[in-house]
Amino acid sequence: MEQAIIPISSKEAIRLLCLDSVDPPMAKELLSQLESASNIDYVISHHAEQDHSGTIPQILSKFPNAKVITSPKAKETLKDLLRIPGESFKTVEDGECLSLGDKTLRFIYTPWVHWPEAMVTYLQEEKILFGCDFLGSQIATTELYVTDEGRVYEAAKRYFAEIMMPFRSVITKNIEKLEGYDIQMIAPSHGPIYPRPSFIFEAYREWVLGSSKNRVVLTYVSMHKSTKQMVDYLVEALVDRGVHLELFNLAVTDIGKLAITLVDAGSIVVGTPTVLAGPHPLAAYAAFLANALRPKALFLSIIGSYGWGGKTVEVLAGMIPNLKVEVIEPVLSRGLPGEEDFKALEQLAETISSKHTEQGFK
Ligand code: FEO
Repeated sequence: MEQAIIPISSKEAIRLLCLDSVDPPMAKELLSQLESASNIDYVISHHAEQDHSGTIPQILSKFPNAKVITSPKAKETLKDLLRIPGESFKTVEDGECLSLGDKTLRFIYTPWVHWPEAMVTYLQEEKILFGCDFLGSQIATTELYVTDEGRVYEAAKRYFAEIMMPFRSVITKNIEKLEGYDIQMIAPSHGPIYPRPSFIFEAYREWVLGSSKNRVVLTYVSMHKSTKQMVDYLVEALVDRGVHLELFNLAVTDIGKLAITLVDAGSIVVGTPTVLAGPHPLAAYAAFLANALRPKALFLSIIGSYGWGGKTVEVLAGMIPNLKVEVIEPVLSRGLPGEEDFKALEQLAETISSKHTEQGFK
């Protein structure tokens, strides 16, 4: 649900609001829904990213008297991103209310979930929170409300992993801020409405504050099967020690699924051959992604093979400055792994298992 139009009765008239807009490719659908509206009084802009704001200029063209209600920071961003003129805005402060007669909208700043200007709207009389990106899910469904929490949990976790995970510390503050309101329903801009808000709040608390799990995310790419042999060996060695695995062949993997598993993995292992003196580009991509998503894993290692040399470990290690991980001794084999390499993989599995036990990962 990218937008909602709310008829609001006041003493004088019916007022119409747009809560955000839609991505420009969906503009036709939105504008056709507005066809019968004689006026739009306000467009509430929670977030300047174009999947929410991109059609605001077209709404303003159709309803030139409409005011865009947003934060001062979002105003400046929208002026730059969409060239919306300054006089079209009415800015609101954190906590400010907009009374529309018998309905009241309260605007609550929720910075960095996931842009700095983000805010949400609380419809006080109905106790509905319009959360925009915050608490949303990557799911397209004709069901307006969450009916299958298990299905939505996975979709929301994927959304959290891909969009929100880098902002874990501010998420906690924003959840605490929202806890001060009596919220009976959450209507995010992505995914269905939560009639049981505690479901998604509890999930977020677990993803943000919960301990990592006794689980390794092992991403790999192999060209001539040397790295693959090492991966297979390490998988078995970890399983023998009771460590759970999430294995991703980067040549075919769904990056979204990889992101989900990063939410609570205790360790990350990257398996890569050496190509042009460095990691395979797919392994470099995985490292870049992990660095950008900033998962809470505490340990990382690198395994792989090389033909004549290179700086695979140095290059990969230099790509993950955002990760607060202890790097466990990498294992690199020249060509097919031999006895010494398997011993080193056995030791790597032992070290990971011990460190997970020390941390109390379950
Ligand atoms: Fe940050 Fe749904 O866009």
